[in-house]
Amino acid sequence: MIQLIMMETYQALSEQAAKIVANQIHQKPNSIIGFATGSTPLGLYETLVTMYQNKEISFSEIQTFNLDEYVGLRPTHPQSYFQFMMQHLFSKVDIKRDQIHFPAGVFANASRACLEFEEQLEQVGSIDLQILGIGENGHIGFNEPADAFTLNTHITGLAERTIQANARFFHDQSEVPRKAITMGIGNIMAAKKILLLADKESKSAALSALFSGTIDPNIPASILQLHPNVVVIVNKKIANYMKHVSNTLEV
Ligand code: F6R
Repeated sequence: MIQLIMMETYQALSEQAAKIVANQIHQKPNSIIGFATGSTPLGLYETLVTMYQNKEISFSEIQTFNLDEYVGLRPTHPQSYFQFMMQHLFSKVDIKRDQIHFPAGVFANASRACLEFEEQLEQVGSIDLQILGIGENGHIGFNEPADAFTLNTHITGLAERTIQANARFFHDQSEVPRKAITMGIGNIMAAKKILLLADKESKSAALSALFSGTIDPNIPASILQLHPNVVVIVNKKIANYMKHVSNTLEV
């Protein structure tokens, strides 16, 4: 079931998302939280840092699993998703370093690297709350449009549109890694609750697929229609461009 919440501004969207994450951690301090990188959750992470500084929340017992990492970038690389999380959240709150889980971007054996991440996921059971952004092409994690869904952690080529969209974080588009290691659709769908955030109008077509009634691996996020507990928070300016929208809650 997808619950759609529309917010007036990016800040309100971020604060609403932070409330959901904080509630999850208050209810279950040792929650397993799945994190996403990218521009969209930056406001959420900033709000969580402020809540931590105001002693409204502690992350000391949570375990984290990030969705994806660029292949070829070590955790020390400034553009790695590991560094992104350290910079925007992990180093600013009381998350324990050994409770942070990331798929490996650098490895000797690709299937071994995927399997190791799968094993770490299996050990914790399931993710309590998975935070997601969405690509303009409907990708979630780096599950790019394809003829079929890939269920488990895998190495994937990045779609041209994704490479272009992510070039903003690099000096030059040629520096954007062409491959990533990502949780699969099955891993994401196994989360007990999913929180998807979208702020930009360029995401409206992809978001419409979440309310279309059709599941299509060429718009990977459409699979979320089969999940029992999804909250989608969007900036109201997008909602005007979204098709098939019903079941809307304005906060
Ligand atoms: C990042 C990730 C991606 C992003 C998506 C949106 O870990 O998994 O699916 O969520 O590309 O990125 P932004 O928020 O930068 O538009």
